[in-house]
Amino acid sequence: MCGIFGYIGSKDPLTVCLKGLEQLEYRGYDSTGIAGVIAGKIASYKEAGKISLLKQKINLRSLELAIGHTRWATHGKVSQENAHPHVDASQSIALVHNGIIENYSSLRDGLKRQGVLFASETDSEVIVQLVSSFYRGDLCKAVQQTLPLLHGAFAIALIHKDHPDQILVAARESPLAIGFDDEHTESIVSSDPNAFLGRAFNVLFLHDDEIACVQKGRVHLFDQKLVPIAKKIERFETDYQTPSKEGFEHFMLKEIYEQPKTIQNAMFGRADPNFEKFGFSEEEIKSFKNVWILGCGTSAHAGSIGAMYFEDLAKLPASCDIASEARYRDPILGPDTLVIGISQSGETADTLAAIREAKKQGCKILGICNVLHSTLTREATGSIFLKAGPEISVCSTKAFSSQLVVLNLLALHFAHVRGCLAPGEADSYLAELKKIPEQIQEVMQQAPTLQKLAKKYAHYHDFFFMGRRYMFRAAQEAALKLKEISYVNANGYPAGELKHGPLALVNPQLPIVAFCSNMKTQEKILSNLMEVKARGGPILAFAPKQLKEVAAVADDVVWLPSTLDELAPFASTIAGQLLAYFIAKEKGCDIDQPRNLAKSVTVE
Ligand code: M6R
Repeated sequence: MCGIFGYIGSKDPLTVCLKGLEQLEYRGYDSTGIAGVIAGKIASYKEAGKISLLKQKINLRSLELAIGHTRWATHGKVSQENAHPHVDASQSIALVHNGIIENYSSLRDGLKRQGVLFASETDSEVIVQLVSSFYRGDLCKAVQQTLPLLHGAFAIALIHKDHPDQILVAARESPLAIGFDDEHTESIVSSDPNAFLGRAFNVLFLHDDEIACVQKGRVHLFDQKLVPIAKKIERFETDYQTPSKEGFEHFMLKEIYEQPKTIQNAMFGRADPNFEKFGFSEEEIKSFKNVWILGCGTSAHAGSIGAMYFEDLAKLPASCDIASEARYRDPILGPDTLVIGISQSGETADTLAAIREAKKQGCKILGICNVLHSTLTREATGSIFLKAGPEISVCSTKAFSSQLVVLNLLALHFAHVRGCLAPGEADSYLAELKKIPEQIQEVMQQAPTLQKLAKKYAHYHDFFFMGRRYMFRAAQEAALKLKEISYVNANGYPAGELKHGPLALVNPQLPIVAFCSNMKTQEKILSNLMEVKARGGPILAFAPKQLKEVAAVADDVVWLPSTLDELAPFASTIAGQLLAYFIAKEKGCDIDQPRNLAKSVTVE
């Protein structure tokens, strides 16, 4: 789960490579490194740490070409030795790798028996050592001989000291984009074409086991047998802007505060029962008998709320599954199931694998995504973009609220097409939805209160978040925010399940964070609060203004705007985002890049 980047061309390879890696840091930030060729020798530099550290220390002048890497550790601890690029024992070839080589251990043992000395604990190093063992003057041939031996997923880029005019790349189940300019003066290879730094490029994507020899402004493509192949070339113009915090202390806070605007962006052209075009005809919409939503983490939480929208608004059976589980299930699927893949990045490995399985079973795929040109949108039948702008903080905030908007309006559109709406129903629903950006401003005005509460609650080691129906999912999402950036244990649970086990946990050291905005179950959640109170658990409630009874039972209440149950997740989760942010700040955590995580999880 790493980012790889390579450059050959008229500009300074080191400078371009460093900039490219900065764009890929969302794929991992445990360690980083760059290699190139200088005067017939491989030169490389790597660091355990972020790219900012590499930038300060690297001193490689006059590279003829460069490959670089930003790592999220899988095999081998975070250390300089395990950082990429990896160089073979003869110091002739350097390699960067994204993915996992599942049979690396047996390959490594075999190479060791032949006397090869390894310098790292990684799975990736076996690739460069294997290529080296096959190399007889033709790098492409050596790569071709290596690929069939590898089990697992990879995108690789290699350079050889004797071939300073080429970068060799190959891929299997991992994205790899190659771009070259019209003048044939430069070429870039990257895990993500959005890292092409704001220039117009001709771009092609490698498919499984294809190999490319990339030269200045030129690409030679081969299949597994080294037969030259031609490929569709797309024109990409990426919008490169150095991400800025715009005066906020962290990207996360900036992104939380952007939500009134990003929610409006997500509504634009869609806040109407007639939704924008997204690749499915009305006949197809009518033909679906059920909806299956797939995603991971925060996207899965949005998907679970989305499934409720489809059932409540469009009267269509719908469910959401965590993609890493779904990909190994054997569900009964067919053309009448609409499969929705939901992902901020569009690169999450499990989500992609799950939709590919569904595709094999004849399902059409709708991708809901924030990143243009991402793998999800390239593989889906149709796509809807969140238009939330780049989300830099690992902790997802604005993408979540935009996902809710899109799922909500999509379900409303399905309801309209399927004739489930009473006259005037869509209008009154949309009127409530359009109030959300303003209501969120109201939540944000409570930031000082949330900061005070964070100070009060930051010393607890465990939290229990609960809610019912829409608020159960809001509780799960808020709990994920807290554990992700504050490193405290937080469980998100349906409040109705309390008596079936978790009530045993309740004690004065376990704050209960209760999300009370689901009015259909208001009496039930009040009873749950009483049960907690009777057992001495501190209660922090997030409640709509009209549910005054909460004040009598909770220790602290954050009052939220009143709205429909379906729309209550917006204010509740945004209040949860702020609480998590302030607790993390109180604890001095690395808020934008929490330990052990990456923005985009590109390996299984
Ligand atoms: O890019 P995706 O939406 O597919 O990412 C899925 C999860 O990895 C992501 O939502 C993760 O849970 C967030 N870091 C949570 O804040």
